[in-house]
Amino acid sequence: MPKLVSGFSKLSKEEKINWLANNFFTHIDKGIETLNQYANSNKKLQQLHDEFIENTISNFYIPYAVAPNFIINGKPFAIPMAIEESSVVAAASLVAKFWSTRGGFQTRVISTTKVGQVHFMYSGDTNVLNKFFLKNKLQLIESTDLLTANMRKRGGGILDIELKDKTSKLENYFQLHVTFETGDSMGANFINSCLETIAKSFGKNASEDLDDEIKIVMSILSNYVPNCLVRAEVSCKTKEFFSENAAFYAQKFVEAVAIANVEPYRAVTHNKGIMNGIDAVVLATGNDFRAVAAGAHAYASKTGSYKSLTNAKIENGIFKFWIEIPLSLGTVGGLTKLHPLAKLSLEILQNPSVKELMEIIAVAGLAQNFAALKALTTSGIQQGHMKMHLMNILNQLEANVHEKEIITKKFKDSTVSHNAIAKALHVLRTEK
Ligand code: MEV
Repeated sequence: MPKLVSGFSKLSKEEKINWLANNFFTHIDKGIETLNQYANSNKKLQQLHDEFIENTISNFYIPYAVAPNFIINGKPFAIPMAIEESSVVAAASLVAKFWSTRGGFQTRVISTTKVGQVHFMYSGDTNVLNKFFLKNKLQLIESTDLLTANMRKRGGGILDIELKDKTSKLENYFQLHVTFETGDSMGANFINSCLETIAKSFGKNASEDLDDEIKIVMSILSNYVPNCLVRAEVSCKTKEFFSENAAFYAQKFVEAVAIANVEPYRAVTHNKGIMNGIDAVVLATGNDFRAVAAGAHAYASKTGSYKSLTNAKIENGIFKFWIEIPLSLGTVGGLTKLHPLAKLSLEILQNPSVKELMEIIAVAGLAQNFAALKALTTSGIQQGHMKMHLMNILNQLEANVHEKEIITKKFKDSTVSHNAIAKALHVLRTEK
């Protein structure tokens, strides 16, 4: 039975690994060897990673790739992606090439406002609270002056503070709803620091003027950012959509999007495919993919039912396909400049502003959805998917380089399945 431990974070890395190995590993030496294999031999680099989080015992790699040939607003890009799923980068590259000969992607940032809230309870007179808030509003903003000075210099800061009465949803519940502009940073720490300062300042002045005390419950940014929104679009003449039966396939494509707009079971998978592209670039640029995913899915539900993040139509012989998605990102702060690969990703993307990064990432999502729908409405998803998965199967079966080459050739035009590959490999090995 494994033991519990106290003071784990204080142990050295070696002690942590030994404790873990003795308590949880089936094969102690093999487990330790795996952890050590993934540790970086460059001590400085490893220390950087160790210090990102607590209790680091190794690194967890996922592939880092690039999808070239994206044309975004007339400018070429190679998009870095960090993702483990076999077909995502291949799909992105194909779609980039497809649209590069049809005018590329057009994008536009619609808005960049972020939100934070001070949640509090108050059971006194609402009119008294309103008056108190209005009297103190400016002072609440001023209480953050030191924190916001640099951000204001860069054109950001606090945009507004509103008092919101939420008592119809929860007894005594009010909030200060604060809107922010955070420039090229995601601004999570900035927003949270401002909110905690505002909350302190709000509570401090309350006792003299109010008929009941304000009980601050919590102060935190919101990852729902419906007003930090970007749009990306592709369009072409319907007849240029495909080399054969273009109008038929374009119509089927539009229907596939329409289905995701009315059927949540489909919409979740449809949007998951979009997030394959989005998260891969978010991760490669050192941004917070959990925040982005949470915000995107909430936005997909903004009407009360879960819908597609993309839309498509055919009008006057033109096929149009677009995405509108909230993206809270940074190109400074966080890991963006600290993680050497994140920094390099931004360099590959020609050091974009946060708005440009929003546009690039929206394009990655749209491209991924285009690839999925194109496959789904034509050959089906498995053909391309299994082709890309072939190497994983071959690795599972411990095929050598020579075997990989032969089997890959053999399955160029036939259906890939685990069984079929295993059989072919068996035949190849017994033929020898
Ligand atoms: C797989 O990761 C993503 C897809 O299922 C997306 C979709 O169905 O649209 C292929």
